[in-house]
Amino acid sequence: MNLLTNTCKLCVSEKNVRKNSECSRNIRNFAKEIETENETNKIIIYIIYTMKKFDPATNIQKLDGRDPFRGVNPSISDSATFAFEKAHLMTDTFHGETEGYFLYSRHWNPSNMALCNALAAMEGTEAAWVTGSGMAAITCALLHEVKQGDHIVSSMTTYGGTFAFLSNYIKKWGVEVSFVNFQDLDAVRKAIRPNTKVLYTETMNNPLLRIANIPELSKIAHENGARLLVDNTFTPMIFSPYQLGADVVVYSMTKFINGKNDCVAGAICGTQEYINSLIDVNDGTAMLLGPVLDPMRSSSILKNLHTLHIRMQKHSENAMYLAKRFKEVGFKYNYPGLEEHVDHELFKSMMNPGYGFGGMISIDMETADAASKIMEIMQDKGVGYLAVSLGYFKTLFSNSGKSTSSEVPEELQKEMGMSEGLIRFSVGLDNDIERTFQLIAEAVEESKK
Ligand SMILES: Cc1ncc(COP(=O)(O)O)c(C=O)c1O
Repeated sequence: MNLLTNTCKLCVSEKNVRKNSECSRNIRNFAKEIETENETNKIIIYIIYTMKKFDPATNIQKLDGRDPFRGVNPSISDSATFAFEKAHLMTDTFHGETEGYFLYSRHWNPSNMALCNALAAMEGTEAAWVTGSGMAAITCALLHEVKQGDHIVSSMTTYGGTFAFLSNYIKKWGVEVSFVNFQDLDAVRKAIRPNTKVLYTETMNNPLLRIANIPELSKIAHENGARLLVDNTFTPMIFSPYQLGADVVVYSMTKFINGKNDCVAGAICGTQEYINSLIDVNDGTAMLLGPVLDPMRSSSILKNLHTLHIRMQKHSENAMYLAKRFKEVGFKYNYPGLEEHVDHELFKSMMNPGYGFGGMISIDMETADAASKIMEIMQDKGVGYLAVSLGYFKTLFSNSGKSTSSEVPEELQKEMGMSEGLIRFSVGLDNDIERTFQLIAEAVEESKK
């Protein structure tokens, strides 16, 4: 492989052409290839790699989004079906042999394609596909990898809906799942069987905010003929799991990516070949289960995606501020941006610079009753809303064990270290975050009365 000049095979698609030297995933592969090279070569590779910074926001900014009438936003495609000038073009499109033709909106439509191009640019993948919810993205991506008799190794700490799908639902199809502590890489290795097809994790997990070691998990998956699927919902732009070695990246766009809490939506990002297989008219899981996102929504989410980098910076800045203030006053808090977090160094080794450590933070109030009381007072005082979900411009808080992780049995909650008094905050875009801190501190004091 000529690292400096050749076009990257992973990135060769119409919208996304890069040189080998511009693709951090390729540089990693290259570094693996030259493992036996002499020290000078290794140093050269290291220098090229560290000089290169993957920047999701700039990748999105480089796209030209004008419509055929020179409108600055792509036109909304308000059609379920599309006409062909010639009958053979319809047949060829069914066989995937045409360029620039659309068949039917469950498969592709121009508005979804515009959003998908931007998501692929953000992740540095060749392609993406958008779904009507995050769960649709997760379930389609998982079902597409496995058949009856296969095995999945999943992190034991995931969003409750994902956990319920993997522990209760997928077994109907004869697929076995082992839940493992993904912080323990040996335990992950040991859980792998000859029929393991998938390793599944969230980059930053829900709700414990532990960080998965994506490069190592990718190695473990690939050494064992499995694929690594990663849910990056909590940390868009901060982490780029595909660049770190994941095979497929899924999102609940309901959260930070859209950021407005006005819809549910999801995304699946991967190679062109993979996305094509997902929407194959004969056996593509997404095409046949039909969870496609509505084009009207795609077009509104695309506009919100263009401000994601600024929002992530502000969410992170505010969460970091709260973490420091919680530390000063002695709250039992959890935030991966501070040095004492067990995964702080791992976080730094994987993060894209400039987006901070994320907008998620938690405090532990020990009991569910104490958590409930404080949350009600915080809502009355105007800290934000007692609501599930995240990535909104207002601060949202919920008691994870009693809400978004309630599908996880209490025993397992204890095993993974989740306190029953854990309050998870999705920190908003508050302009005066010291005021927010003061209100939270007052709520904690008042709850003791
Ligand atoms: C990490 C994570 N992944 C996936 C989902 C599911 O997404 P949706 O509600 O859009 O289906 C959620 C929802 O809370 C989540 O927190």
